[in-house]
Amino acid sequence: MAFAGGGALAAAVSRAGGLGLIGGGYGDPAWLEAQFEAAAGAHVGVGFITWSLRKSPSLLTDVLRHRPAAVMLSFGDPRPFVDEIRAAGARVICQCQDLGHVMDAVEVQADIVVAQGAEAGGHGAARGTLGFVPEAADYLAAHAAGTLLLAAGGIGDGRGLAASLVLGADGVLLGTRLWAATEALVQPGHHQALLETDGDGTLRTTVADIARQIAWPRGFTARIRRNAFTDRWHGHEADLERAVAVEGPRYRQAFAAGDAEHTGVWFGEAAGVIHAIEPAAVIVERMADEAAQCLARQAAAVGGPAAGERAVLPSAPSDLASASALAFPEAGQTERLAPPPVLDADQQAAADELINGPRGGVYGPFRPLLHRPPLLRAAAKLGETLRYTGTLDAALREWTICVVARETENVFEWEMHHPLAVRAGVPVAALGALATRSALPADLDPALALAARVARELLATHRIGEATYAQALVQWGEAALVELLTLAGYFAMVCWVMNVARTPGPQRV
Ligand SMILES: Cc1cc2nc3c(=O)[nH]c(=O)nc-3n(C[C@H](O)[C@H](O)[C@H](O)COP(=O)(O)O)c2cc1C
Repeated sequence: MAFAGGGALAAAVSRAGGLGLIGGGYGDPAWLEAQFEAAAGAHVGVGFITWSLRKSPSLLTDVLRHRPAAVMLSFGDPRPFVDEIRAAGARVICQCQDLGHVMDAVEVQADIVVAQGAEAGGHGAARGTLGFVPEAADYLAAHAAGTLLLAAGGIGDGRGLAASLVLGADGVLLGTRLWAATEALVQPGHHQALLETDGDGTLRTTVADIARQIAWPRGFTARIRRNAFTDRWHGHEADLERAVAVEGPRYRQAFAAGDAEHTGVWFGEAAGVIHAIEPAAVIVERMADEAAQCLARQAAAVGGPAAGERAVLPSAPSDLASASALAFPEAGQTERLAPPPVLDADQQAAADELINGPRGGVYGPFRPLLHRPPLLRAAAKLGETLRYTGTLDAALREWTICVVARETENVFEWEMHHPLAVRAGVPVAALGALATRSALPADLDPALALAARVARELLATHRIGEATYAQALVQWGEAALVELLTLAGYFAMVCWVMNVARTPGPQRV
């Protein structure tokens, strides 16, 4: 984001698990230097307006000295720059506005393609995000399967991220939502204007470029806020060109003063779902959490029990009492796959081992597993290894189990582990938020918030995204991450078996 996307914002996004980009825009060397300094060594990338970069290519050489993680090229032919970017060890991101651009990006073997729809704030073209992203995904699948695809344009919350993933993107590129971050280099008056504007209150136009006397190539327009400036000049572009000697300085003055009426105020349709100016980390983390919840909900709606069988979950309260009072889909139904009424010798031996081991009884997943003693023993051993000799601290372990139990809507593990989580120090409010599927408390221990994200992403998408993986690696290191993934997988497995078996909660055994 030219002008707004400085080093502090980029660094905050990267620290939150995304990849922050400094908006190189038209390329002011002193400004770029200052922004890399503000990024304070964070792992960030940088973006350029490609047709403008062609006029002063030394800018690229200058920024590559800062060893950016990636360089994004938009609005023009990427070919002249990709070799230099690669030679410096940075990834090449090509932001594309139509399928022709995607083909160009594939030709230069871009590492990441951004499919930008016309809902986007700032410059762009005509394709809509909803139609363009899946088409780009299909093209990449056929011609460059290893290339990552990001969706851009109109994505302002976790629903947009979830939808983008469903459309075939690997992630999203955000402009407007991060323009509305506290770290963005945006005048307070412009931030306030966004909060007062809904998604209808923007338009694509060329009047800001005419006023600034920036000659954009044909086909590109900019989405900005509708205001007195656009009301006066949009549709009267020739008049503005004639009046530019007066109107140009007026535009720039109003912009510098934070006047939201007599200049371009640069944001897109996502304004309609943005209701607060917040730190970038809050935005990134909430968006990931919301998306994981959306995907899990949709997966449950499509693949879960029939609508008539589903219990109504409590909607508002978020304390532990309401959490433990959750109704589950299998509530009140007759148990299936219960232990055989007469045990054979091996089943009896397996039952005795459980009764005489740390569990002290045959309950939960071991009721259905008693049908297959070798599996019961293997599962019991893995569960014991994770629970009794694992290296994760108790709060992290019990919390992760609770997330899995909640996401799989499993009564046994939820009722068994949420008291253990409380005892291990997990805040009651966080468990309440899990129970009601509401946003996790903002002050939740970042490790617990990350564990929730990992577990939810796993259950919703069967993998975790690059950003989550990178953050998890920093948080826990390889061995503990493997342990956490195995923990989530083990509990997902036993929850599935019990959901099918309608195994009752621990109090009812
Ligand atoms: C204030 C602002 C400035 C932008 N400047 C640039 C830019 O210099 N180069 C660029 O490639 N894209 C720029 N964009 C577009 C973004 O890269 C991105 O495609 C867009 O913001 C995504 O849509 P969204 O605003 O709905 O999130 C800008 C967007 C905004 C809001």
